[in-house]
Amino acid sequence: MISISASLMCCNPLILGEEIYQLQEAGCDGFHIDIMDGNFVQNFAMSIRDLRFIRKASYLPIDVHLMIRDPSRYIASLAATGIDRIFIHPETCDDCAAVLQQVRQFGIKAGIVLSPYVKFDILTNQVLSLIDTVLVMAVSPGFAGQSFIPETVGRVSMLSRILDNRQIYIEVDGAVSTRTIPILHDEGARKFVAGTSGLFKENISYYQAIKDLKNSIASQNVG
Ligand code: DX5
Ligand code: ZN
Repeated sequence: MISISASLMCCNPLILGEEIYQLQEAGCDGFHIDIMDGNFVQNFAMSIRDLRFIRKASYLPIDVHLMIRDPSRYIASLAATGIDRIFIHPETCDDCAAVLQQVRQFGIKAGIVLSPYVKFDILTNQVLSLIDTVLVMAVSPGFAGQSFIPETVGRVSMLSRILDNRQIYIEVDGAVSTRTIPILHDEGARKFVAGTSGLFKENISYYQAIKDLKNSIASQNVG
């Protein structure tokens, strides 16, 4: 079974509450909130203020993908919004294990984000002991609507071997679709962030899009 988190930076912000309700009803398993600082990535996306409203609007798990430099400055205010998990880019902090510990001290789950250029040696035993998910970027961080980076498949495969029998999920973020999910699932990915490539699309309902994404592995197995 796979899980689908809806990337809310891709939804219609004018009707955010309705979008959350519709996505929940359509069967998404959680929400993925991208927060950017315009410095680590040249974009902004959503805000801590949005999180307070999103938390009130949904009982589903909320993950925050922090694309900001020096994230330790914001962990306390993020924790106060009631979110479930914070993903950190290791290249944004001097000591990412310390930031992950800070996240855990608030009783929040922690994850590490691996951008396409980040090597796996960041995954020390100490880091691995603090996280429950590794978020593998299949695109460069910062923008929706980008093309799938093919090397992601080999990276997920290698990550599966590194994580071996640890209770750590592999989640993929970026260009997630009915084409990429089966390939990545085969290599060990079990959680997926769905944005414009697989969920927020013209003339297909959220219900049908999520159903197609979840069934893409079943159809692939039959194949
Ligand atoms: C990009 C974000 C993703 C993005 C996914 O930096 O992390 O969540 O919104 O959207 P698509 O599916 O368009 O790549
Ligand atoms: Zn993201």
